Amino acid sequence: MKKYYITTPIYYVNDVPHIGHSYTTLAADTLARYKRLLGEKVFFLTGTDEHGQKIQKAARSVNLTPQELADKVVENFKRLWKKLDITNDFFVRTTDDYHIKCVQEAFEYIYKKGDIYKGEYEGWYCIPCESYYSEVEIGKDKVCPVCGRKLDLVKEESYFFRLSAYEDKLLKFYEKHQDFVIPKTRYNEIISFVKGGLKDLSITRTSFDWGIPVPFDNKHVIYVWFDALLNYLSAIGCKNGSFEEIWPADVHFVGKDILRFHAVYWPAFLMSLELPLPKHVVAHGWWTVDGKKMSKSLGNVVDPNKMIQKYPKDAYRYFLLRNVPFGLDGDFSEKELIERINSELVNDFGNLVSRSLTMMEKYSDGLVNMPITVENDNLSKLAKSTYDKILEHMNIFRFDEALIDIFEYIRAVNKYITEKEPWTLNKLRKTAQLNEVLYNLFSALKFVAGIISPFLPDSSEKIMNMLGLNDVGSYTAEFFLDFYNIEQSKVAKKDMLFERIEYKNEGEKKESEKKIPIDEFFNVDLKVAKILEAEGIEKSRKLIKLKIDVGEESPRTLVAGLKEHYKPEELVGRYIIVVANLKPAKLMGIESNGMLLAAKDGENLALLTVEKPVKPGAKIS
Ligand code: MSP
Repeated sequence: MKKYYITTPIYYVNDVPHIGHSYTTLAADTLARYKRLLGEKVFFLTGTDEHGQKIQKAARSVNLTPQELADKVVENFKRLWKKLDITNDFFVRTTDDYHIKCVQEAFEYIYKKGDIYKGEYEGWYCIPCESYYSEVEIGKDKVCPVCGRKLDLVKEESYFFRLSAYEDKLLKFYEKHQDFVIPKTRYNEIISFVKGGLKDLSITRTSFDWGIPVPFDNKHVIYVWFDALLNYLSAIGCKNGSFEEIWPADVHFVGKDILRFHAVYWPAFLMSLELPLPKHVVAHGWWTVDGKKMSKSLGNVVDPNKMIQKYPKDAYRYFLLRNVPFGLDGDFSEKELIERINSELVNDFGNLVSRSLTMMEKYSDGLVNMPITVENDNLSKLAKSTYDKILEHMNIFRFDEALIDIFEYIRAVNKYITEKEPWTLNKLRKTAQLNEVLYNLFSALKFVAGIISPFLPDSSEKIMNMLGLNDVGSYTAEFFLDFYNIEQSKVAKKDMLFERIEYKNEGEKKESEKKIPIDEFFNVDLKVAKILEAEGIEKSRKLIKLKIDVGEESPRTLVAGLKEHYKPEELVGRYIIVVANLKPAKLMGIESNGMLLAAKDGENLALLTVEKPVKPGAKIS
């Protein structure tokens, strides 16, 4: 059996999963299901990236240890993947012991080989991207060329990996493996980056400690990207166990922003480890939302949990995979999602399944029988040529094109019904012809159920069930392609595949319809604060400036509209509730860091307080 190893990036645990994460994972899941359908032995890996400065910083800001933060956030990813029926074979965490051991062994191996040496790093570092940048890359503004945020100037002792020594070897490798990086535009970008010259890479840090210690020098922790990339090996036994049966990876799916790590650093590390290189690194584009970059500050981050609460899971998968050519950037809009549901999923797909089954029930009591002779096998031939096109498209990871192929077939079957007019055959009692048409429809639906199963698994299961066949996973592609392998089946129309959806603007909805998932609530960091000082702002009718203790090193300033309801001196000493993770805002020229909670019924305003004093900084949960 041919093996096939697929990976997603491992996701940072400083944040909850969003549409971008779900996109990579869904694409990888679709490919994994597709390869299984072809009868290959798939190993599909995903996981979380839990070390590094960014996680340490995020944990500190919510008063947790990095491990506590990781243990909490990892559950959000696991829960989402379960809800989305992701079929990963393993979930790797970089704080797991086997991973730590693997990273240390790899580091030591490369060190002993002479590819790692000690030196001093001085240069720019982007914490959100966990990435080093050269002066040339950052330009005059000294901001990160990838995420646009402020960079830190780092100067510290560091171990370096001799990346420069791999420049020629990498270029030769790319030359020989033209499909190593997909799509081609990205392949060309990588080649020109490497041709521009590779500097040795700093692969340890000393200014914080949330990382895997260098085994022979524990003042240093290993650079989070060296650590993270090794997950692809640690998860399959590091150079042991089943490693040889699975390695090399057939495809690493990544977003375009992390391509360099996978297409330059990773192959160089592997060359140094004397291991075979992955077959493909496939980079997808980025999602914007309604034409805007997704960001917390714009409040437009798309939560996949919310989407699959509102729409069928298959519709979400369909939209993401169909709407953008895999590799390019795409825009997410619920309006477009609904349009695709109504036109393609309801009108074309759902309608075909529904009308075919209705006719089978009505004209032959739900019994389909293999015809004795076959007059017309056009649908079977078309299935074969459709299948060939799908294979071609999936070989180059064009999920969108493969879906177009499937939907062309669906439309052709709808057309077949219109042309054959089974209702007329029934009226004229042309039983043999009617039987053949119904059987062809049955086999065409069987083919669609099979070939669409990697993309829309729920719909596929529903169709298989209605056709009276077993679980889709028990067959491979040949079964679905063969039109004449079922003697007889009892079918029943049980389920609608998709329901039409009315588009409503957020604004048109009633308050009560705007339900939020629990994760959204947990994004708000509510804490107890003690008011230390309060002073009315002179020129303002409403505002009072407060100094509050939120259990941090120093007190915060918070500006609140309380003047009409409280005298400043009444406030001092009270224990109030504040939203602690709000972005700072300027009110009357004063920076306010947080927001206090109060209840208002029109005229009266009452501060929310705690029933008895607790330590300032206590979390509200
Ligand atoms: N931890 C690293 C990966 C290490 S792999 C050895 C990382 N994690 S991440 O959580 O920040 O991002 C994971 C993936 O999400 C990346 O592939 C990134 O491209 C993708 N996306 C993040 N935002 C995205 C969009 N807005 N749209 C599409 N994908 C995006 O990087």
